Amino acid sequence: MRVVTASEMKKLDEKTIKNIGIPSLVLMERAGISVVEALWRELGNLSNQSFLIICGKGNNGGDGLVIARELLNFTEAVKVLLFDSSEKLSDDNRKNLELFKNVGGEVMYIQNMNYDDIAQLIENYDVVVDAIFGTGLSKPVTSPYNEIIDLVNLYSKYTVSVDLPSGISADTGKILGAAVKADLTVTFEFPKVGHILFPGRKLTGKLKIAKIGIPRALQDILPSDRFLITPNTIKIPERLRESNKGTFGKVIIVGGSPNYIGAPLLSALGAIRAGAGLVYLFGPEKVVYNAVQFEPGIIACPFNDNYLTEKAFDYLLRFVDKKTVIVLGPGLGREKETEDFVKKVLQNLSVPMVIDADGLYHLSNFKDILGSKQNIVLTPHPGELARFENLSVEKVKYNYILAEEIAIKYHTILALKDVTTIITNGKNVYFNITGNTSLSKGGSGDILSGLIAGFISQGGSLLDSTIAASYILGRAAELYDFEGRNKITEILDLIPQAIREVVS
Ligand code: ACO
Repeated sequence: MRVVTASEMKKLDEKTIKNIGIPSLVLMERAGISVVEALWRELGNLSNQSFLIICGKGNNGGDGLVIARELLNFTEAVKVLLFDSSEKLSDDNRKNLELFKNVGGEVMYIQNMNYDDIAQLIENYDVVVDAIFGTGLSKPVTSPYNEIIDLVNLYSKYTVSVDLPSGISADTGKILGAAVKADLTVTFEFPKVGHILFPGRKLTGKLKIAKIGIPRALQDILPSDRFLITPNTIKIPERLRESNKGTFGKVIIVGGSPNYIGAPLLSALGAIRAGAGLVYLFGPEKVVYNAVQFEPGIIACPFNDNYLTEKAFDYLLRFVDKKTVIVLGPGLGREKETEDFVKKVLQNLSVPMVIDADGLYHLSNFKDILGSKQNIVLTPHPGELARFENLSVEKVKYNYILAEEIAIKYHTILALKDVTTIITNGKNVYFNITGNTSLSKGGSGDILSGLIAGFISQGGSLLDSTIAASYILGRAAELYDFEGRNKITEILDLIPQAIREVVS
């Protein structure tokens, strides 16, 4: 499902109005009616409920006035709250205010009220409709808007936001000054990036997407290709019945050090759960033997030292063939000698690689090497990417534009792991929103790297495999029956069920 920014949505609206000739009032009418329909689906009979609609001066406020007019067909208990009678309203807003008044609608102005009265008013209604700002929010919210938003958050029993919770940036999901916390948000045609990234994702509440008649053909004018990952996005390689262990490829997990014995094991288990034909663990002896004891399906490649050093490279070469996918990094440790090993691997091998954790740590010292490669997936969390690029975590977190730039700069697939994960090849961006706090613990990133490699080894493209792995891991977490109380290995056990959901 496509995800758009404010300017992209504006472009679509404008083309629909100017090129196709559908009047803006028609779009507004459909937008407003779709919100009432959504309310009816959520709340049932609207005629025994009361509604307070708070409208801004732009077209979002215009949508609010359509909603108010339509609600009057169900109940008399409808009131519109406007900010200031001297405010210059947008043309369509003014027209809809007139129509609302023509059907006997009642309007009150915030400028004439004190905050106690407004708080009381909000408390008296069953539903507050937030139509203050939509995609047109252009600067931080100040008085009186921020105060009204605070009152809504304090006193509303149930809040529905029109298009976006007022105060959320449609392009970043950030709070601009103050923002409404909605129970339900009804947006139009496409989700906006602000619904997908935190804190916007949290404040959006339940998201409904309503069609208002933007022609499909117009989507081609959009300058970017950004998508929300849904089950339809997922491509998992088919498993031919006529097969053997060689059919599904070979994954070599390269990692492990004295403090990190479990990380490469979890990655190996991820690759096994993805369906890889052969999974090797290449690491320090102790790590490898421990892993094989836990899971006999892992093929042991023990290196006779506590860390992987440059000397390990020739030994690794024995296991690599053209069907190999390497996961480089889980629990690798940060020894200087290990950096030499990582460098040699990257300089000399051209098989697909998923680079995570300490693999990224070492790679940051010679990242230009990535320019000569084509088949690398980097899977940093914001802290790792910040370090990799020498930027602050704040600058990196949920920064899909930066993610696109980095993917282009290094010719890689980048998965910026977070509660909303951003996956990009520099051209398209995919947002993954599956998952929950069951993944907020050590080991989930290791499983992800193995899952990605396991899908690649079966013939998936690097991008498709990264998308599928991120979605599937999140779904597996959602399938666990007591969120957050899991061992990370229990999520591994739910991966087959999550895969079955999308392949059957
Ligand atoms: N503090 C105070 N005012 C602010 C702030 C702020 N922090 N930020 C923005 N504003 C003002 C803007 O300056 C603008 O006012 P102005 O026109 O006087 O400059 C106003 O708030 C705009 O706010 P919005 O209502 O969010 O923006 P817009 O008028 O662009 O409408 C829209 C957004 C199209 C309604 C969208 O959210 C939506 O709901 N779309 C559904 C389809 C629809 O109804 N379309 C309407 C007709 S088509 C069209 O508008 C092109």
